[in-house]
Amino acid sequence: MKITSAEFIISNSDVSKCPKDPLPEYAFIGRSNVGKSSLINMLTNHKNLAKTSGKPGKTQLINHFKINLNWFLVDLPGYGYARVSKKTKEVFQEFITDYFEKREQLVCAFVLIDIRLEAQKIDLEFITYLGEIEVPFCIIFTKADKISKTKIDSHIAAYRKALLANNWEEMPQHFVTSALESTGRDKVLGFIDEVNEQ
Ligand code: GTP
Ligand code: MG
Repeated sequence: MKITSAEFIISNSDVSKCPKDPLPEYAFIGRSNVGKSSLINMLTNHKNLAKTSGKPGKTQLINHFKINLNWFLVDLPGYGYARVSKKTKEVFQEFITDYFEKREQLVCAFVLIDIRLEAQKIDLEFITYLGEIEVPFCIIFTKADKISKTKIDSHIAAYRKALLANNWEEMPQHFVTSALESTGRDKVLGFIDEVNEQ
């Protein structure tokens, strides 16, 4: 898919104030610093459309970006940036769970996982939560430039095992990306294109 336009529309912490357009949207969620905002920039070929930072906690609000005038990418705050471990409900800010539970335009969530890390409890909890509320999702393994190709395969195999141990019957659809090297761009955009056509 060719990206012909990408435009920031609005930031807010209230799902009822998100754009009213009945257009399909795709949301990026995952731990702080996993690369959600960088991936949005990579996919849209814009350096600074979404604000990024080396420090976790950069994105604080729900950010809507209108793409090709007919669908949205949504950048969300990261979870898991609490110094003390808290119960799931407190870690996933209420406006984020509100977004996932109430946003009718949401057609697919992308759960971003740092390819270098072993499966983290908080991500598995979030994936379970998406299953419970029946939000379709894919997994995106980020920062693929940081490890070798062989390690990528073994990390994905380990992740599959962790999901199966958490009651998933199969590995969900997944992608491997690098915002640095534009890896995975065509596959992710191709997937979005297909869903938009449905
Ligand atoms: P929050 O908004 O804080 O939740 O973070 P985020 O998930 O939006 O992460 P962000 O895109 O701001 O990136 C965090 C850091 O990771 C930045 O220093 C990015 O440059 C770096 N980064 C993101 N994606 C990649 C990647 O694919 N490869 C490499 N090497 N670095 C990346
Ligand atoms: Mg961000």
